Amino acid sequence: MPIIAPSLLAADFLHLQDECDMLNKSEADWYHLDVMDGRFVPNISFGLPVIQQIRKATTKVCDVHLMIVEPEKYTEAFKNAGADRLSVHIEICNHLHRNIEQIKSLGMKAGVAINPHTSVSLLADIIHDIDTVLMMTVDPGFGGQEFIPHSFEKIRQVKKMIDEKGLHVHIAIDGGVTLENAPSIIGAGADVLIAGSTVFKAPDPIAAIARLKAIGG
Ligand code: DX5
Ligand code: ZN
Repeated sequence: MPIIAPSLLAADFLHLQDECDMLNKSEADWYHLDVMDGRFVPNISFGLPVIQQIRKATTKVCDVHLMIVEPEKYTEAFKNAGADRLSVHIEICNHLHRNIEQIKSLGMKAGVAINPHTSVSLLADIIHDIDTVLMMTVDPGFGGQEFIPHSFEKIRQVKKMIDEKGLHVHIAIDGGVTLENAPSIIGAGADVLIAGSTVFKAPDPIAAIARLKAIGG
């Protein structure tokens, strides 16, 4: 069964406690928390104080996706705010290995996020050191966009790379995941579904999470 990580970017921020209560009751595995700085991506979302509050509202895994420049400056602050897992973008890390080691040394699981235009071949020399490949299947910055079809090929390539090297690395898919395309995403080799709109805009979010969770099993 896939790991389900609802993205709170699509949550109702005026009623975050209710949204957290809903997720806690659901089969969701991770809370996916998108941090944007208006520099790496053309949007600003939320940051440390919001994550601190969310941390108090759940015992589930907090998976923080940093879409910010100079993530190394904030790694410890996100750990202190309650992050269990931290992903940084390959496109902005000049010393990616150092960033990954920093995340791991603080006791968090480390992920590398990769944009739709970035070749997965760039993961070859870092994939041994990470827990998760966070593959963006839309251009990062906004929820509610359409899944880019070429991503299926990229998922297959990463899965092949992981299997050939005998590694256990999660492939998390972020952007445009729907109830319709999720089975093909899992079929291509992904094992983590990150979903914003599909969960929070559903008439019954708990049922939407259950349907995603039931895929492939
Ligand atoms: C976009 C974020 C995603 C976003 C996904 O930059 O990284 O996590 O919330 O939203 P949906 O599922 O609506 O495409
Ligand atoms: Zn994300």
